[in-house]
Amino acid sequence: MQIDDKPHFYGRRQGRRLRKAKSVLMESFLPTVKLNADNPLDFPFHPQKIYLEIGFGDGDHLAGHSLKHKDIAYIGAEVFKNGIANLLSLITEIKQNDEIGDDIKLLNERSDNLRIWDDDIRLLFPLLPDECLDMVFLLFPDPWPKKRHASRRFINPENLKTLARILKPNGILRVATDHMVYKTWTLRQMKDCPFFEWTATCGNDWKHEPADWVETKYQRKAIREGRKPVFLDFAKVSK
Ligand SMILES: C[S@@+](CC[C@H](N)C(=O)[O-])C[C@H]1O[C@@H](n2cnc3c(N)ncnc32)[C@H](O)[C@@H]1O
Repeated sequence: MQIDDKPHFYGRRQGRRLRKAKSVLMESFLPTVKLNADNPLDFPFHPQKIYLEIGFGDGDHLAGHSLKHKDIAYIGAEVFKNGIANLLSLITEIKQNDEIGDDIKLLNERSDNLRIWDDDIRLLFPLLPDECLDMVFLLFPDPWPKKRHASRRFINPENLKTLARILKPNGILRVATDHMVYKTWTLRQMKDCPFFEWTATCGNDWKHEPADWVETKYQRKAIREGRKPVFLDFAKVSK
């Protein structure tokens, strides 16, 4: 934490200037699906399960997963504006070069089961009640491979303690990475952490995509560059 108690975010908040359609989506449609900080679990239905994706990037996994499971409520957190705008384009009828009218809607086949936190997830954590989540996705997090940057890695004792607080007993934390430094780091952190246990029983459990998987941008990049991702599921140990 910094002196003003706001955690420092080391990544990029904005890339290239957004094209017209995406900036209109950010101005006009983001407020419709933005998480309400006063009532963060406010969904237009009573979900049996709530999933959180941290750092959803371009939003492929979040958009795809939430489309497959209309009865599950999803919270997606991302700081990078271009990624948020891309997710908005995936879930609406608006594409890059479209003319946009006043009335932007979710794609017809979608249900209204997704809320976006457009800031650092660590600022949302204190607003989430204990044991409210069934699953947390952390997919291809920034690996910060240099040793001197290790303190920036998202998997760390403080964040794990918070994730254990907000996950239900037996809730799952799913971490995917293509970076072997991050894989080793994660397994070591989890081994030292009393709140989670690795669910894998054989290589098949972590060397292959889990059921219901939706490919992400960073996963595609890793595969193009010859790296093999791993998929690590950790269950919150019930008290
Ligand atoms: C390497 S990218 C991976 C994106 C996506 N999950 C994928 O697999 O394509 C990591 C993303 O996490 C986001 N991120 C990192 N720390 C975050 C935080 N504390 N809160 C919200 N988003 C965060 C970054 O902005 C970045 O877009």
